[in-house]
Amino acid sequence: MLKRTDYLTKNYGKPDGWKLAAYEAAGGYRSARKALGMSKDAVIDEAKKAHVRGRGGAGFDCGVKWSFMPKESTKPHYLVINADEGEPGTFKDRTIMEQNPHSLIEGCIIGCYAIGAHACYIYVRDELHLSKERLWGAIAEAKAKGHLGARPFGKDYAVEIYVHTGAGAYICGEETALLNSLEGRRGEPRLKPPFPAQYGAFGCPSTVNNVETIAIMPTVFEIGGDAFSKLSELHGINDGGCRLFGVSGHVKNPGIFEAAVGLTLRELIFDLGGGVLDDRAIIGVIPGGSSCPIHKPDEIVDVAGDPRFEPYNGKSVLDLPLGVDTFRGIGSMLGTACAIVLSDAADPVLAYHNVMRFYRHESCGQCTPCREGMGWIERILDKIVAGTGTIEELDQLSDIANSVMGNTICAFGEGAAQPALAFVRRYRKELEDYVHNGGKNQTGTLTT
Ligand SMILES: Cc1cc2nc3c(=O)[nH]c(=O)nc-3n(C[C@H](O)[C@H](O)[C@H](O)COP(=O)(O)O)c2cc1C
Repeated sequence: MLKRTDYLTKNYGKPDGWKLAAYEAAGGYRSARKALGMSKDAVIDEAKKAHVRGRGGAGFDCGVKWSFMPKESTKPHYLVINADEGEPGTFKDRTIMEQNPHSLIEGCIIGCYAIGAHACYIYVRDELHLSKERLWGAIAEAKAKGHLGARPFGKDYAVEIYVHTGAGAYICGEETALLNSLEGRRGEPRLKPPFPAQYGAFGCPSTVNNVETIAIMPTVFEIGGDAFSKLSELHGINDGGCRLFGVSGHVKNPGIFEAAVGLTLRELIFDLGGGVLDDRAIIGVIPGGSSCPIHKPDEIVDVAGDPRFEPYNGKSVLDLPLGVDTFRGIGSMLGTACAIVLSDAADPVLAYHNVMRFYRHESCGQCTPCREGMGWIERILDKIVAGTGTIEELDQLSDIANSVMGNTICAFGEGAAQPALAFVRRYRKELEDYVHNGGKNQTGTLTT
């Protein structure tokens, strides 16, 4: 159900809306002040009540993640903010950093306190120039006002925030590759365990959180964890609150929209995204970044046997609420909740080729199945698009993707294998047309 909110976005687009004065006029920094007056355990408990599922893609509960940090430790603790945002189709975090940077800074103060950290690193990809500028500006303003630094709000709990720039590699969004990159090492994922809560940045206990996950925390402490959780339309599923939804591709009004969790794809595309460009038919929707499987609009939700999702059984996938567990329940993924829409002006085979070229380019090469598999998939698709592919090679695409799935150090393997499998499953006929017709596209006119 569409229920708009504006906790994060109320100052978006307003003159000087990103500055401290505008943020404080709207009640900013009251939450951090409140949180620093509570015990650390109480802060974590409040965050748990909110059921904020990680907004970076994996959907892990933020309060629960904070509780994994060791209580007794002689080593420093770190909060690390993942502002790499390299997922194709995803552009929500940069809107926060550009238009509401103080929400992230305030969230970092709360997060640092909760996990016992005195230092926070915000890892931003270097080309996000305005994001960096606005974050540096917000840090300076917050320090000048005494909200950040040696004694935030007069409390004897120092917090410093550093912006660290990354060179723009998709793999550096994976949390352990990010940590290596932060330390000045090659951006390759680490084997887990040990998890970052035990051995994170510089070998110390660390929590890695997405920008939006942390930027929404001031709202949680403003209205209370329970109230925040209840904003969601997905009752009883522990997927709380509101979030930023994105829509791009063939829609009339692409952008980022804040709404309660429970919004459907149909509402995102038609009510918020303004409908399909040129009023054409939809041929596919990727729910949340290119690592999620693509769906056809006529797919019927089959969640029989799971009582939590019974109301949605038998409905179109477009009417399934966008939640972490609802999409998991149909063998899919919500990812970043930034959907990509393909109308019948697009050629799904060329879209597939484009997506897999990205994954071949971005594979870090550490794990053989991923390094070799991505190249193999790309070469087969090169041939299919050129009209020299065979049905046998078309069949190999799924075999290769299945060999990558679950056989890599990090989740890049799954993120690349899922679209690889879904495109073949849903556009097999279009791929076969390319094979049979020497590459001549029978289904669409435009490239992606
Ligand atoms: C290949 C790959 C790229 C990723 N890129 C990002 C990213 O750009 N931003 C992000 O927040 N999480 C990204 N993630 C997820 C992170 O590893 C991690 O789960 C997330 O930062 C945790 O924050 P959250 O719990 O607040 O969502 C990526 C994961 C993988 C496997």
